[in-house]
Amino acid sequence: MGKSSSISGFYKLSPKQRLQAVKEFADLTDEECALLQSAGSLPLDLADRMIENVVGTIPVPLGIGMNFLINNRDYLIPMAIEEPSVVAAASYAAKMVRDGGGFHTSSTPPIMVGQIQVVGVKDPYAAKMRVIQAKEEVLKKANEQDPVLVSAGGGAIDLDAKVINTTQGPMLIAELHVDCRDAMGPNAVNTMAEAISPIIQRVAGGRVYLRIISNLATKRLVRAWCVVSKEAVGGEKVVDGIVNAYAFAAADPYRAATHNKGILNGIIAVIIATCNDHRAVEAGAHAYAVRNGHYGALSTWEKNKNGDLVGSIELPMAVGLIGGAVRTHPIAKIAVKILGVKTANEFGEVLAAMGLAQNLGALRALASEGIQRGHMSLHAKNIAVAAGATGELIDIVAEKMVQERKIRMDRAKELIEQYRKSRKV
Ligand code: MEV
Repeated sequence: MGKSSSISGFYKLSPKQRLQAVKEFADLTDEECALLQSAGSLPLDLADRMIENVVGTIPVPLGIGMNFLINNRDYLIPMAIEEPSVVAAASYAAKMVRDGGGFHTSSTPPIMVGQIQVVGVKDPYAAKMRVIQAKEEVLKKANEQDPVLVSAGGGAIDLDAKVINTTQGPMLIAELHVDCRDAMGPNAVNTMAEAISPIIQRVAGGRVYLRIISNLATKRLVRAWCVVSKEAVGGEKVVDGIVNAYAFAAADPYRAATHNKGILNGIIAVIIATCNDHRAVEAGAHAYAVRNGHYGALSTWEKNKNGDLVGSIELPMAVGLIGGAVRTHPIAKIAVKILGVKTANEFGEVLAAMGLAQNLGALRALASEGIQRGHMSLHAKNIAVAAGATGELIDIVAEKMVQERKIRMDRAKELIEQYRKSRKV
């Protein structure tokens, strides 16, 4: 039997004790553990090779999403995020889902699309036909650019074209479909798009301008669904509250943006922990949310015939396990090891489950006691620190502010002052 991601009392342990449990779960080495808890885990010379104009690095907390059972397998999910309550909400929701059999997931093959823009084509509709007809030559040229991807079972697999009407008149857009396997894809796709553009320009006429991957990755979708018993979620009223919350988001873009923000709270935290490109995933998610002509919810929540809650989610997921910083950032490498995912597809499916869990955690709180109670204790600690509290004073000031329901900087400063004066006498 595999190891369980449901470790009783995990949240009550110290960071050192928690890491010990994660070490056992993921077979981390002593060096990996030391690196995870050292302050300067991204060496400056490595940072300097990652981006331009480097002057330092900025650490964020790394927590673990617990209790995730996905397709009958246990996962501990590393999450890098500055916002309190996100890790707790995901873990709590995953526990409810676990008791109902866990998450079920699936995904399409990892296909990304590269777009080639052709302007000034005299006969764009006929040019579209000519481009599609040139598919064999185009795919051959594209695949010559990346023999490694081809030998891994991926590569350019299809070519399509469309005519769009723009403020500059009709344009022909050729679209190259590339199976990216375990890479996120931009390097492979953009290189291929640039390499095939002379062929596209020759057969279409006109002039090629942009050659770039699309982040609306509708051919690289991940899906997850789950059933949560009405008892686990807090009764039939809470089930109804969550279903109504979904209906609200489905009908109103102002709510949908916040609903989807909650989903992305979980997904992006994991993407940052693994040093994937969160902007690409966010852009794809929001563009996908508007695919039906209006901005809507990325997840759905329904009540089944037993009165239990059923959730599902589908969204594009351009993530990779090779290329980019995933294999160079020391903490990202450990995060992937903790996750234990073997393919980008498996990784994407875990992210879909995380998004659904995060959404459930938020909606359950919103549909019952409200979101603030859970938020307050950590929020109060942050305010206490910002007001200048250190050591034991952080907890003293935070607890007092929660008790008084006055979680404000001015109150924190007063309490610190009072405490310091009382210590002097
Ligand atoms: C806060 O970061 C996220 C929520 O606003 C999500 C939601 O409203 O569904 C709680």
